[in-house]
Amino acid sequence: MSYEADNWDLDLDWLREAIQPNTKAIVINCPHNPTGYVMSRAKLEELIAICRKHNLILFSDEVYRFLEYCEKDTLPAACDLYENAVSLGAMSKTYGLAGLRIGWIATQNKEIYQAMAKFKDFTSICNSAPSEFLATLALRQGDKIYSAQPRNYCCKS
Ligand SMILES: Cc1ncc(COP(=O)(O)O)c(C=O)c1O
Repeated sequence: MSYEADNWDLDLDWLREAIQPNTKAIVINCPHNPTGYVMSRAKLEELIAICRKHNLILFSDEVYRFLEYCEKDTLPAACDLYENAVSLGAMSKTYGLAGLRIGWIATQNKEIYQAMAKFKDFTSICNSAPSEFLATLALRQGDKIYSAQPRNYCCKS
């Protein structure tokens, strides 16, 4: 839970209380759409500690990563910090290429990876090859694309 009055800051005490014996995963979206909220690195690590303690998957929607109002707020991908995190990325926001319909997930957890790969194989088999080609071009030029906009709108000192 988070409120505008608290600048949308994620309330980890609320989260701790909300975890039930049958809770399997926590889903976050950071940078958050539509508020633009980005949690601190310390908060993300605390959140990961909660997930570890309860053996929970952390599904982290990071499609707005690199579009933070302030460059120094960019967090590491959750999947680089936690072995049971699944990070979601896409070409649609940071790269402005929504029409390609290309995104990705990354995780260190092989079991989750295999299950998702199987699901993808069963439902849509593969992506559009021209979209993958264009996405590769854009990813290789990523720093030029998302660095084209200055991102120092609300830097705290
Ligand atoms: C937070 C968030 N995640 C995922 C998506 C889906 O993005 P896509 O257009 O690449 O399917 C959106 C789209 O608005 C979004 O806001």
